[in-house]
Amino acid sequence: MSRKNAAITGVAGFVPERKLTNHDLEQMVETTDEWIYTRTGIKERRILEPGLGLSHMGEKAVNELLQKTQTSPEDIDLILCATITGDMIFPDTANQIAVKVGATNAFGFDINAACSGFLYALHTGAKFIESGTYKKVVVVGGDVMSSIIDYTDRTTCVIFGDGLGAVLLEPNDQYGIQDAILQADGSGVEYLHAKSGGSKMPTSEETVAQGLHYVYQNGGPVFKRAVQGMSSTVKQVIEQNNLTKEEIDWVVPHQANMRIINTVASQLDFPLEKVMQNIEYLGNTTAGTLPLCLRDYEPQLKPGDKIVLTAFGGGFTWGALYLTWAYEGKNFS
Ligand code: COA
Repeated sequence: MSRKNAAITGVAGFVPERKLTNHDLEQMVETTDEWIYTRTGIKERRILEPGLGLSHMGEKAVNELLQKTQTSPEDIDLILCATITGDMIFPDTANQIAVKVGATNAFGFDINAACSGFLYALHTGAKFIESGTYKKVVVVGGDVMSSIIDYTDRTTCVIFGDGLGAVLLEPNDQYGIQDAILQADGSGVEYLHAKSGGSKMPTSEETVAQGLHYVYQNGGPVFKRAVQGMSSTVKQVIEQNNLTKEEIDWVVPHQANMRIINTVASQLDFPLEKVMQNIEYLGNTTAGTLPLCLRDYEPQLKPGDKIVLTAFGGGFTWGALYLTWAYEGKNFS
């Protein structure tokens, strides 16, 4: 039996209606639209209504995905959900999404790799398809960052937003996920984390009073490591697949900061027209950025397009994944 690739056969996404603009943030913390835009490339981000949770966005996106791909929910074998802001600490959100969309025959689990979560989950999902046992795997990536951001901390609240994307993976003889390089360095915890709410420091009145449940970030080192990690793994995945950068149709970088995206593109000598970007109006949605980019650029994608996805995030975690696109994007729009 010949090995089947796992190909993306559909993509969908959900972002909340409510916008939080740079001008709104000017009223909340000491900052300016000019500072935020020139340092990050972000103009606005979306904020989910409190109380809805990640599974609400997952339900919306997966329902759209099923409709676009004309898939019945009972046919889904597995749902993987990449997130750091699931509905609850446990149980996982993948199964909350499954119950909401009627995926009664699916099992599922969450993957916590911060901004690299979707990349890790896509690679994991591909392995289940390649095993030959599973035929339809839904990979979800998204975060409700507004639930863990301190809106009095100007160094983090300007960057993050809420949003989620989802793809369907199915076996394919020709196209699909070809290769991935995933890396991690746990010593990066020092620079990017939420200190309390886990087993090491359970939530208490004191931790809440000190705001230790919010995202802490030391942006400078994160910036440098993000550029280094994404550039090196993209280069490596291109080389080990005997490709040249000219043959790559699209690079899909994690939308962390427009300056990071520009620096990676420039180090790799990729023209920005080939680099997917939507950070300006969505900000950094953590595990949501890669599938939301695919959703936004889907109408431009053609069968056989060579695409490299890359991400960097808390952990540290990072990597790059090479795939060939399987369908004419316009068919679905
Ligand atoms: N508005 C105005 N001033 C701000 C500000 C804001 N929102 N946030 C920080 N500043 C100030 C700082 O306090 C500092 O002031 P000081 O010089 O008086 O101390 C000054 O701006 C420069 O801060 P610095 O942290 O050096 O800015 P920067 O150019 O590195 O940009 C980040 C900060 C966070 C935008 C940038 O480091 C970054 O994007 N890092 C990567 C973060 C990331 O991608 N995280 C996602 C996970 S991958």
